[in-house]
Amino acid sequence: MDGEPLSTLCTPALVVDVDKVKKNAQRMIERCEKLGVQLRPHMKTHKTLECADIMTGGSRRCIVVSTLAEACFYADHGFDDILYAYSLPFDKVERCAILSERLELFQVLLDHPDALEQLKKRPLRDGRLWHVWMKLDCGNGRAGILHSEPEALRLAQAIAEEAGVQLTGVYAHCGNTYNCKGVQEIQAVAKETTSFTLQFMEKLKAVGITCKSSIGSTPSCSHPVQDMAKLSEVHPGNFVFYDVQQSLIGSCGVEEVAVRVLTRVIGHCPHRNQLLIDCGWTGLSLDGAGKLPTGYAVIEGHPNLKLLSMTQEHGRVEPISGKLDYSMYPLGSLLTLIPYHSCATAMMHPVYHVHSEGILVGKWIPTRGW
Ligand SMILES: Cc1ncc(COP(=O)(O)O)c(C=O)c1O
Repeated sequence: MDGEPLSTLCTPALVVDVDKVKKNAQRMIERCEKLGVQLRPHMKTHKTLECADIMTGGSRRCIVVSTLAEACFYADHGFDDILYAYSLPFDKVERCAILSERLELFQVLLDHPDALEQLKKRPLRDGRLWHVWMKLDCGNGRAGILHSEPEALRLAQAIAEEAGVQLTGVYAHCGNTYNCKGVQEIQAVAKETTSFTLQFMEKLKAVGITCKSSIGSTPSCSHPVQDMAKLSEVHPGNFVFYDVQQSLIGSCGVEEVAVRVLTRVIGHCPHRNQLLIDCGWTGLSLDGAGKLPTGYAVIEGHPNLKLLSMTQEHGRVEPISGKLDYSMYPLGSLLTLIPYHSCATAMMHPVYHVHSEGILVGKWIPTRGW
């Protein structure tokens, strides 16, 4: 209930520090303003209206989503200028067409000529154009057409020349910044991705095509390089929550992480020198694979505790060294987990409990599905 302390919550519970969320969002807005580049924040981490309002400064414009369910959710609540940044799924073309006909600016992304064929088969009504971003792989090694391949230029030209279709931009996601440690490594990847993207933009210009360009990830946009000012947009998302993973990469300090999972001690197992907690993988996710020195999460204020393993509804906690002092962890006592990957952890929860300085101020309900 609003006005109550966090300790009144049933556990496991995802709690969001709204002051940190606002601070993280504001910092990114200011960083992009200073750089002179448009911020198009990604909604995938939280998938809520409230957080989207904070990230867009209330404009409800210029966002990226990872699922069509997110796109529809935001469209239904008055958001526009939405980029569905996922290689066009052929089973969802009709739903994309309906959104394109309904919104002022709904944008899709593709990285294969067959996807363009799908759009050609479904011309939009009332003379509307399909707004298309082409996904470029600049070293991330996931979706996208390799920046150096001649096919990339050919596909961009085909999109630009197609009637009823507009090449809106080129999109490169530098997810390879997640392999970095420290600002120097992050900035090297940011620089390389920017440079490959800008080189591609030059190739487009040489054949008479101009459109937007966008790169980004939370690590690269937390420590942008000056060259990124030459891009049209950046598209980070995780920064609004951050997490332990980001603190290890060097994107943020652990004190900037805005989310926690509250859990309670539900068992003492002295024969194994372990505690049981009521947070299993349904409350935290298995992301991170337990590779932190403290296992699957950081247990706030207890640096000697490790979340060793989880089953669906149970977690096993043991000391990193020494014998557990069970008097410090009575049954029913609260522990606070800082998640390894906040996007994955948030996905496990149907409601986020929002607080300011430990006092509950509301609930955010995320959208789910694809
Ligand atoms: C295509 C795409 N764009 C943008 C983002 C946002 O990046 P980050 O999560 O590092 O903020 C992601 C994240 O996975 C993504 O997959």
